[in-house]
Amino acid sequence: METKDLPHPSEIQRDFEAFMQQKYGGHVRFVVHEAKMEAPRSERPSPSASKDDPKSYDFQFHFLPKDLKEHLDRFVVQQNEAKKALAIAVCDHYNHVMECIHSPSEAEMEFSKQNVLMLGPTGVGKTYLVRLIAELIGVPFVKADATRFSETGYVGANVDDLVRDLVTQAQGDLHLAQYGIIYLDEVDKLAGVGTTGTKDVSGRGVQFGLLKLMEETEVNLRGGNDISSQIQSLMEFQKKGSVEPQLINTRHILFIVSGAFHGLEEIIARRLHRRTIGISASPTSQSEVSELLSLSQTEDFIKFGFEPEFVGRLPVRIVCEKLVANDLYHILKDSESSLIQQYKRAFRSYGIDLAFSDRALKLIATRASLEKTGARALMTVLEKVLRDFKYELPSSSIRKLRVTEGLVNHPERALRKLLGARRIFRRQ
Ligand SMILES: Nc1ncnc2c1ncn2[C@@H]1O[C@H](COP(=O)(O)OP(=O)(O)OP(=O)(O)O)[C@@H](O)[C@H]1O
Ligand SMILES: [Mg+2]
Repeated sequence: METKDLPHPSEIQRDFEAFMQQKYGGHVRFVVHEAKMEAPRSERPSPSASKDDPKSYDFQFHFLPKDLKEHLDRFVVQQNEAKKALAIAVCDHYNHVMECIHSPSEAEMEFSKQNVLMLGPTGVGKTYLVRLIAELIGVPFVKADATRFSETGYVGANVDDLVRDLVTQAQGDLHLAQYGIIYLDEVDKLAGVGTTGTKDVSGRGVQFGLLKLMEETEVNLRGGNDISSQIQSLMEFQKKGSVEPQLINTRHILFIVSGAFHGLEEIIARRLHRRTIGISASPTSQSEVSELLSLSQTEDFIKFGFEPEFVGRLPVRIVCEKLVANDLYHILKDSESSLIQQYKRAFRSYGIDLAFSDRALKLIATRASLEKTGARALMTVLEKVLRDFKYELPSSSIRKLRVTEGLVNHPERALRKLLGARRIFRRQ
C-alpha cells in the first residue's frame, strides 16, 4: 500500500468514528490524545527549535533568577518569597538540563532533582506562578489533580498520561516535552490519616507510584489505548514495517506539587512548642500560619501522612501567603492581564466602553476577601455585580458603563436607572 497517499490521522479517525457511530449508534465513546492528531511538528512553531530542521532541536535557557522574578512581578501580586524561591529552583533545574545537553558527562554526575512542593491557601497564585514561568521559558506545562489518581487508587497508566499530556502541550514535540513541567495539585489529599485513624492506602499507593516518575523513568508514548495511538502505530507499521517505541525520559521533567495542607501548621506548632517556649500550639492568625508553614520540615510532612521517600523527593518547599483585601485591590488595578481587562474586553466586544472608579475596585476587593477563596473570589463578585449589565446593555443603545461604588452596592437599581434614562432599544 502506498503510504504517501494515506490521509492525516485525524481524517482516518473521523471516518472511523463515523463508521462506528453508524454501526453502534451513540453508545460508542472516543478518547483522543490531541498531540497525535495535530499537524506534523515541522509545520508548527516551537520556542527554540530550528525552523529548517526540527531534528536539530536545541533547548535553550538563558534566564537568571531575577529575570524570572521580574516577569512574575508583572502578573502576580505579593508572594515575593515564593517568586524568589521558584525562580531559583527553576533556574537550577534548567541550568542543569543545559549542562546535561551540552556536556553529557555531566549527566553521569550525581545531581538531586529540585522538585518543588508549594504550600498555601486556595486562589493565591500557586498554579498561576508556575504557568507563567513555563510560558516564559517556553516549556510545556501540564496541570493535574492528584485526586485523579487516588480515586482509582491505581497510578500506572494515569501517570503515563501526564507525560503524554506534556507531549500534547509541546504540540507533538518529543524533545521539548522532556523538559516540561508537570504540576500536581491537591497533593495534600494523598497524605493524611483517614477518618478511621488508619492511613489512606490508595493515597499512599499513589505516592509510591509517583516516586519513579519524579526521579527518572521512561514512559512509552505508544502505550496509549486510545484509537489515535493505535492508528498512529498502524501507520508507522505500514511505513516502516515495525513500530518503534517512543520513549520519554522523565529525568529532566520538573515536578511541582502543591496543596493547601490544612492542619500542617498545627503539626509544626506542636513540634516547635516542644522545643521553644512562647509559640502557641494552635496558630490562629494567617500570618502566623504562613510563618509556621515556612518552618516546615520533612518530619512534619511525614506526620501529616506522607511517605518519607515522597517528601524526600520534593526538596524545595515554597510557601504562598494568603491575600488580603488590599492585595486583591492591587490584583485588579495593577496586575497585567487582570480580570478588569478581561471584563473590559468582554464589554468592548459589544461596543461598550467599561470603566471602574477606584473606590469601586476597593469595594469589590473587600467583598472578595470575605469569600476566603483568594483571587478567585474577584471573579465571583464581579460576575454577580455585572451579570445583568452584560445581559441587558448589549441590546440597548448604551455604549458606556462606569462602575462606581454605588453600582457595586446596588447593581439592580443602577441598571434600572441606566435603562430608564435611555429607552431606545435596538430592534431587529
Ligand atoms: N497573587 C496573585 N496575583 C495576581 N493574580 C492572582 C494571584 N493569585 C491568584 N491570582 C488569580 O487567580 C487565579 C487563580 O489562582 P491560582 O490558580 O494560581 O490559585 P491556586 O493558588 O493554584 O489555588 P488552588 O490551591 O485552589 O489551586 C489566577 O489565574 C490569577 O488570575
Ligand atoms: Mg492551583
